[in-house]
Amino acid sequence: MSHPIKPSGREVFFPASELIVSKTDQKGRLTYVNRLFCKIAGYSEAELIGQPHSIVRHPDMPRSVFRLLWDSIENRREIFAYVKNMAVTGDHYWVFAHVTPSFGADGKIAGYHSNRRAPAPDIIKKTIVPLYAEVLAIERRHANGKDAVAAGQKALTDFVASQKVSYDELMFSLKSAA
Ligand SMILES: Cc1cc2nc3c(=O)[nH]c(=O)nc-3n(C[C@H](O)[C@H](O)[C@H](O)COP(=O)(O)O)c2cc1C
Repeated sequence: MSHPIKPSGREVFFPASELIVSKTDQKGRLTYVNRLFCKIAGYSEAELIGQPHSIVRHPDMPRSVFRLLWDSIENRREIFAYVKNMAVTGDHYWVFAHVTPSFGADGKIAGYHSNRRAPAPDIIKKTIVPLYAEVLAIERRHANGKDAVAAGQKALTDFVASQKVSYDELMFSLKSAA
């Protein structure tokens, strides 16, 4: 999907002691954003509520990462993921997100919730940036969207398998190697 905002190439950061929080409905439309979300993304609360979460999507993010995210949460499982987001200025900020489904009194999924911390910069630089660049390049070899996501997912799965741990273990075992 084309995005009217152009990436600036500038990275912005938020304090390790703070969380960027959002909640969405079942379709991924924002129902809640905390102050830090608004501040770092550069939108007012009113501009964000009701918008699809892809409002902060960065074009460098592989589609297959979001497929993995949605496959987990729609199947009632939490997921941890590194995500590069884009502010209204085109600046970007990396997050380590924990996304969970929320359940209504009827036991059905009522929406989703994401808490994001600041990731260790060296994990982003040494592991995530090269991995996502490779996965994005693999996705771009396919004209068909479904094939692109399938190929990207295979590349992600192969990477996890090569580390000989589960996906969740991998997310937490990426060592800071400053
Ligand atoms: C709770 C929740 C949090 C999300 N957080 C982000 C996020 O921080 N950045 C992002 O690009 N997409 C996020 N997504 C995924 C988006 O809904 C969407 O799948 C993604 O931006 C890809 O959009 P596209 O398919 O329109 O390209 C989140 C989804 C949910 C349900």
